[in-house]
Amino acid sequence: MKITVVGAGAVGATTADNIVRKELAEEIILLDIKEGFAEGKAQDISQTAALLGFDSKITGITNDYSATAGTSVAVITSGLPRKPGMTREELIGTNAGIVRAVAENLLKYSPNVIIVVVSNPMDTMTYLTLKATGLPKNRIIGMGGTLDSARFKYQLSQRLGASSADLNAIVIGGHGDTTMIPLIKHATWNSLPVTEFLSAGEQQQIVADTMVGGATLTKLIGTSAWYAPGASSAAVVESIIRDQKKLFTASVYLEGEYGQQDITLGVPVVLGKDGIEKILPLNLDTEEEAAFAKSAEAVRAMNNVLYETGVL
Ligand SMILES: NC(=O)c1ccc[n+]([C@@H]2O[C@H](COP(=O)([O-])OP(=O)(O)OC[C@H]3O[C@@H](n4cnc5c(N)ncnc54)[C@H](O)[C@@H]3O)[C@@H](O)[C@H]2O)c1
Repeated sequence: MKITVVGAGAVGATTADNIVRKELAEEIILLDIKEGFAEGKAQDISQTAALLGFDSKITGITNDYSATAGTSVAVITSGLPRKPGMTREELIGTNAGIVRAVAENLLKYSPNVIIVVVSNPMDTMTYLTLKATGLPKNRIIGMGGTLDSARFKYQLSQRLGASSADLNAIVIGGHGDTTMIPLIKHATWNSLPVTEFLSAGEQQQIVADTMVGGATLTKLIGTSAWYAPGASSAAVVESIIRDQKKLFTASVYLEGEYGQQDITLGVPVVLGKDGIEKILPLNLDTEEEAAFAKSAEAVRAMNNVLYETGVL
């Protein structure tokens, strides 16, 4: 079994580190365009084996896709990250060219690959990957909802004084500061509705803090975050590789589900050996439905840029 992570930057290297620690494959390829960079990161990670006791092998590669041949799951993290004050959407021009080329190169050597897209603006990069490769929708998974849901649980745990592990809460919609929808009315604390324990004002604050979770970190760190994004990407890969059939929210191509067509957007899915194995329906109330439609509108406008600029 082989897993490839493209982009050995902050998110890519952390994803690879998590994958290696979990021993999800015998062979992990970390590939970057910057000469020697992935090789260095891979060696650094390899040198933790004696301390952490894993046997997976990680190899760093500079832009040679023949080394990725036979990859089962690939994670695309290559591209520019956000800087303070930037939206994820502002990255579209540069990252579209990078993501398209990377996806096509991966497919050349691994025709059966399942692709997890992480690069931002993630929903649009997922749409681009699907359209550019022509792969069936179950094999293209946009990772954003898993991270946003983890951040939502963090905010809930802080406010409730609860263990994050006891919380069930998901974020649907786009992976953008204004497009994501933390579903607080559906969130539970060990099966009890969290709304029982939080005032309306507290609920609003938790939702607002979740939505700017990434931007808050970008402002503090000076670039976008990587520990939680890396752990989230590895969790998605794990569910596929180990056929765990875990429920995550992921950006997936919709063909009528949630009232949407020809768009990739975050909805609850089951992830197993075939990638996206099920898209789960959800009874949204009028307010949530309206938020989902608004989110789709914003992501669709972003996708249109791909056509207007000739990327698609
Ligand atoms: N979906 C999410 O939840 C999420 C979370 C965090 C970050 N991100 C996104 O992930 C991406 C990576 O973020 P980061 O912080 O790791 O950035 P980074 O700058 O640390 O790393 C990006 C890496 O991509 C490499 N790269 C650029 N072009 C390449 C190409 N054509 N082929 C191979 N490698 C190439 C660069 O050399 C660099 O090492 C950004 O677009 C960021 O916005 C997404």
